[in-house]
Amino acid sequence: MANISNQVEEIQVKLKIELNNCPNSNEVEQIKIKFFGKKGLITDLMAQLKNFSLDEKKEFGPKLNEFKKYSEELINSKKENLIKQEAAAKILKMQNFDVTSYTTNQLIGHKHPYSQFIEEIENIFMSMGFDLFDGPEVESDFFNFTALNIPENHPARDMYDTFWLNKKNTLLRTHTSPIQIRAMQNKQLPIAGIAIGRTFRHEAVDASHDEMFMQCEGMVIDKNINLSHLFATAKKFLQIMFDKKDLDIRIRPGFFPFVEPGVEIDMRCPFCKNGCSVCKQSTWVEVFPGGLIHPNVLNHGGINPEKYSGFAFGFGLTRLAMLKYGINDIRHFYSGKLKFLEQF
Ligand code: DAH
Repeated sequence: MANISNQVEEIQVKLKIELNNCPNSNEVEQIKIKFFGKKGLITDLMAQLKNFSLDEKKEFGPKLNEFKKYSEELINSKKENLIKQEAAAKILKMQNFDVTSYTTNQLIGHKHPYSQFIEEIENIFMSMGFDLFDGPEVESDFFNFTALNIPENHPARDMYDTFWLNKKNTLLRTHTSPIQIRAMQNKQLPIAGIAIGRTFRHEAVDASHDEMFMQCEGMVIDKNINLSHLFATAKKFLQIMFDKKDLDIRIRPGFFPFVEPGVEIDMRCPFCKNGCSVCKQSTWVEVFPGGLIHPNVLNHGGINPEKYSGFAFGFGLTRLAMLKYGINDIRHFYSGKLKFLEQF
């Protein structure tokens, strides 16, 4: 029966090696199954007993039982030890937990380029002493047109493809200029402010037109305001925005019913020296319409044009953003495409 003794020894060595190498309490269960499961090594060994003679049973029975008990204890105590170690390690880990060391690769969001751009414009004007004004997107005919010196049947109304609403004399504002009148009526003189907001026109959508777009309106009203104040403000703003101290501007006459005189302010093309497709080979790009506020408009705002004068301007944000960032299609801004947005 040396054979049985050999088997016992072999199994014992195997069990000890496996337990020694066992990394955690869960794995101990696997070892238990391997030795004590239905087809386990020790289960097999015990099954051999029934084939033994009576004498052999007397000799080996107690030894095998002892071995079985010993092996069980070995497994159980290993499991208990591992459970204790694991609990201690868990506590240690919690004590040493460092929230700042969490550095998995996460996708970090940021403000939409348009929001960043709006903040940049607001900051530049605020640094020059301007306040931030606001007005409603649903406007009345009076604020959007009449008060701005565009009475009913005035041909200038054709400049604006207007979304009229079902309610009489109500529309989606076609520009931010009505905010001028609201500011004149509600603010104390002198006034210096800008207003950035959405405007709406019933236009065919293409690479440079959208039915909804953003404008920035600006105005300064005080005694003795003249065009040079407008030019200096526009130039300073563009120099900061395009980060170019020697950026040049050019003035051309322009027409808007709410300013007299009206001007178009152009700046040197930021992309070229000798002409390119953006400036249509002229080296100038149109950015800023404006002018001195028409006396009729001041009157509608409740301000005496004999005592006060003011300048106003209004520009499209999208166009300026396209120039600043070299974007060729207005629709990218609202596409929600990460490839585009992640560049900002
Ligand atoms: N409101 C004009 C438009 O949307 C832009 C504009 C031009 C605004 C001249 C002004 C201004 O304040 O003085 O077409």
